[in-house]
Amino acid sequence: MIGKNILFIIIFLISIVTNSTGLRLKTEQEDIKGKYPFKAFEKASKCKTCHPGIYQQWSQAMMSQAYTHHWDEIEYFDLAEAHAAAVPQLRDAVDGCNGCHTPLAYMNGKFPPPRPSENSMANESVSCEVCHLIQDTHSNPPVNYSYVMNPGETKYSGRAPSVESPAHKIITKDIFHTTEFCGICHNEKNLYGVWVKSTQIEWKEGPYAAQGVPCQDCHMPKGYYLNAIMGKPYNDARLHLFHGGHDPGKVRGTVEIRIEPDMREAEPGEKVIFTVALYNAKTGHKFPTGSVEDRILWLHVEATDAKGNTYHIPVDPKGFDGEEYTISGDFLAYQDMGIPKGIKDFKGVQRDGIPAGDRIFRMPYFDPEGNMTIMQWNTVKLGVDYRIGPRETKTEKFTFKVPINAAPGKMKVTATLNYQLLVKPVADFLNVPPDESEIIHVNDHSTWITILP
Ligand code: HEC
Ligand code: HEC
Ligand code: HEC
Ligand code: HEC
Ligand code: HEC
Repeated sequence: MIGKNILFIIIFLISIVTNSTGLRLKTEQEDIKGKYPFKAFEKASKCKTCHPGIYQQWSQAMMSQAYTHHWDEIEYFDLAEAHAAAVPQLRDAVDGCNGCHTPLAYMNGKFPPPRPSENSMANESVSCEVCHLIQDTHSNPPVNYSYVMNPGETKYSGRAPSVESPAHKIITKDIFHTTEFCGICHNEKNLYGVWVKSTQIEWKEGPYAAQGVPCQDCHMPKGYYLNAIMGKPYNDARLHLFHGGHDPGKVRGTVEIRIEPDMREAEPGEKVIFTVALYNAKTGHKFPTGSVEDRILWLHVEATDAKGNTYHIPVDPKGFDGEEYTISGDFLAYQDMGIPKGIKDFKGVQRDGIPAGDRIFRMPYFDPEGNMTIMQWNTVKLGVDYRIGPRETKTEKFTFKVPINAAPGKMKVTATLNYQLLVKPVADFLNVPPDESEIIHVNDHSTWITILP
């Protein structure tokens, strides 16, 4: 135990010295911890009186539940807080969760904030007040809740009001139109200097940045809408939909799939090679992005013969470094959950929880022991990045030896792409309600071959 703590301190010191973006371990935001009490801020329910539509949109989006959502509460209290109790050096990093998930509680400065069931201002999560008090960021690239924010009557926005608001002043700021605004919380570097979230950076490196399509265009699309009850509708009002991974309708069809065989007729025992093309047509960043440590996207290929017998076809390995993490199988992982859970020599749980041999589009996170982890604050290294980039197309091959007993006639072969926000074995272990590990169907496509008698 002492050895581990010393190692931790050494890594801690090295990370201070070698930090390339100048980001200190204690972020600049340490200064605002405890700077403003809850009562300095207004509740979203107040904004609702004049902005009822936008309020309802926001209340259906995850950012309105960033502190109260079940999985957030479980991960924060049962894993992160418990881990900081066992390893005090993690204290600041774990307080920092609140910097993005409930900025008002972060500024209120009492940790941990009251539980969601206590109905405090912490439950405001990422509220109207949070975003519309942001004036700027003091980091480049934006990262780790580096917002510049003061409470008060003046709110900031991308649009100047058409009618006077009796409730507040508005100052326009160009940052509201930029992806830097979102990157303040959607990029995250942990205390080991690992980029555990980089959605805005992924965007910046991709085709949508080059074409000037910001986050807002896909997550706050422009439409005819009434911003405030005493105003007039705008043709290009910014809708506060913020729909993402938790909206199956947003995820559906994100990647388009086609599958084709290398021949149309085959005898039992013969080999047919199927190629699947996967084109990421919809995301402005990689897919998956954000909480990449939790998420898996996987491709399952199955053949059904004329008699209805089914055959699962495993993917052909390509041979790249780290590929073993991208093909599902019987492996244990996430052993570090044993620390906060107080389980000695925890063996871990299944890494994938899906049929063996399927291709997984993911990027594994590794803990200091070299095991895969979903605890992003305990990540010292990222593994192979086998996610699908914006407008990228990946191809995968599946070699199928037609079984000797396959029924003659038409054989249908289907490629299915599924998404899961949280790997199921972890969700089960932590008692996370099932909706977080529900299988979201992204897309599928079928082809056929004829099995000769
Ligand atoms: C008493 C009514 C009232 C309340 C309460 C109110 N607003 Fe407004 N707000 C308005 C009006 C009116 C406008 C101008 C609407 C327009 O331009 O059509 C406005 C405009 C805005 C704008 C600028 C964008 C625009 O449409 O011009 C922002 C941002 C904004 N409000 C945020 C907030 C936030 C955040 C809260 C809660 C802390 C809040 N408002 C509470 C009435 C209100
Ligand atoms: C995650 C940050 C975020 C949250 C939360 C948020 N807004 Fe906004 N809001 C923005 C951004 C960004 C824009 C401007 C987008 C642009 O101009 O490109 C905006 C624009 C607006 C506008 C002007 C719309 C327009 O047509 O330009 C109003 C009014 C507004 N917000 C009110 C609210 C209210 C009320 C809430 C809470 C119910 C809220 N916002 C929550 C980020 C946020
Ligand atoms: C103050 C921090 C903060 C800012 C600024 C912010 N976000 Fe978020 N956002 C979050 C957090 C925290 C979550 C995670 C919510 C949860 O716990 O599930 C999130 C989640 C999301 C999601 C995921 C929704 C889902 O269905 O899973 C989308 C989409 C999103 N944000 C878009 C944006 C966009 C676009 C902007 C910029 C206009 C933005 N956010 C600005 C903190 C922020
Ligand atoms: C071209 C459209 C487009 C742009 C631009 C875009 N997104 Fe997305 N985003 C999507 C789609 C589609 C999804 C749903 C698939 C998914 O979950 O990744 C998504 C999902 C998300 C999610 C949820 C990821 C998950 O599954 O947990 C977040 C968070 C997010 N986007 C944030 C952002 C931010 C921040 C930006 C700007 C830096 C941005 N997006 C730019 C289309 C876009
Ligand atoms: C720099 C801002 C930031 C910090 C710091 C941060 N998060 Fe998050 N967190 C986010 C954003 C943004 C998302 C949404 C990403 C996505 O949708 O994929 C998120 C997503 C999550 C999710 C998944 C939510 C879901 O519904 O799938 C959990 C759980 C979570 N965070 C817990 C934590 C904990 C615990 C900490 C501290 C150890 C932490 N976060 C620190 C910004 C942050």
